[in-house]
Amino acid sequence: MDGLTLLTKALEVSPRLQVIVMTAFGSIQSAVDAMRQGAFDYITKPFKEVELRLRVENALEKARMLSQMGLFADEFNERHGLSALVGRSPAMRELTSRLQRVAQSDATVLVQGESGTGKELVARAVHAHSRRKSKPFVPVNCAAISETLLESELFGHAKGAFTGAVRARRGLVEEADGGTLFIDEVTETAPAFQSKLLRTLQEGEVRRVGESTTVKVDVRIVAATNRDIELEVREKRFRQDLYYRLNVVTLRVPPLRERLEDVPALAEHFLKRANARSPRPKRLSQSAVDHLMGYNFPGNVRELENLVEQAAALSEGEELLPEDFPMRPSASMAVSGPTEASPTPAATDATTRGPTLAESVEEAERRAIAQALERHGMDLGRVAEELSVSSTTLWRKMKRLNLRPLGGDHRE
Ligand SMILES: Nc1ncnc2c1ncn2[C@@H]1O[C@H](COP(=O)(O)OP(=O)(O)OP(=O)(O)O)[C@@H](O)[C@H]1O
Ligand SMILES: [Mg+2]
Repeated sequence: MDGLTLLTKALEVSPRLQVIVMTAFGSIQSAVDAMRQGAFDYITKPFKEVELRLRVENALEKARMLSQMGLFADEFNERHGLSALVGRSPAMRELTSRLQRVAQSDATVLVQGESGTGKELVARAVHAHSRRKSKPFVPVNCAAISETLLESELFGHAKGAFTGAVRARRGLVEEADGGTLFIDEVTETAPAFQSKLLRTLQEGEVRRVGESTTVKVDVRIVAATNRDIELEVREKRFRQDLYYRLNVVTLRVPPLRERLEDVPALAEHFLKRANARSPRPKRLSQSAVDHLMGYNFPGNVRELENLVEQAAALSEGEELLPEDFPMRPSASMAVSGPTEASPTPAATDATTRGPTLAESVEEAERRAIAQALERHGMDLGRVAEELSVSSTTLWRKMKRLNLRPLGGDHRE
């Protein structure tokens, strides 16, 4: 292609690109055209090296400025930026506008919200909209790793620091240098670990386990918790000084029941994703949407996501109906009302949240398998085929759900 076409195509692929066009002596018109098409500058042949240098420097400066202003979305931004956060309810709009303002600064952010509300997406969006977006986003889940391992994961260790430390290793804090460290479930840590974390935050440096010297790091911290962190502080399970350090800015992600108007858009979003992976695309009926909006989602967005995925996978027809979304009746608003949120969020977490999600998923599975078993009698092969699972998976699920095929044991 010719130079102008190349310019246009290149800018389509990467709008933040700064292009300098080289033109032959006397072809000023093509230089003008190029500038009109979005070139940053042009240079006429023959030219001196210093002229080119100057233009390149200017172009780099412009690129730097644009990226600092966050005007152009890179890939992470597109995938993890605000556009990944579905839902335009007033509560979500408030959150996203606050998020955008906060992201620009380097302030430590504490993301609070019930389980499944989208805290991790929010944390990623903070990074995607920050000046650090081209640097790493490093997540660490404190609840998933044991106390001792967590320390060496995060801070790294010297060679021989403990049994098994055969060589020195950089920790995740160092990995995140220049970028963002996402400390998920930060309340699930012990006080000793919390002091070390506090030191890192205060001094901007880490000391590897078993090492006497420290390393300077430049990381932005985003932490998240689904607990009532103020309560954790009051009850001395979480260090107050660390809490103050982390809680420079709070982003509260509202529970789904407080923004039920987001349910249709979210359901469509998850269904679209499920359809993209499935040979039999499904669509939502209005009655199914109404049904979903009458529920209070103790498991929040994640519960809705699971319900939609299950329904898309298991429904018979092309149109998803209310009965394709089996929800726990006791958690429906018609029965218990939206104020069922108990005075202590910790209690809500423990009693309603966890089992609900698992139970509704199990219930959907049990129902689908039982129905298919009825239809196909003892032919587990056909049941597995109909449900698009392997027969081993089917067998495992039946065992877990205590379902028996009619007429005895069909273990292969
Ligand atoms: N606004 C949203 N738009 C699209 N997807 C969402 C949204 N909120 C949450 N999700 C999806 O719901 C699921 C749960 O979100 P996420 O993992 O961010 O929640 P969380 O608050 O970190 O939960 P937990 O406290 O259990 O870790 C994810 O699959 C996420 O992609
Ligand atoms: Mg999470």
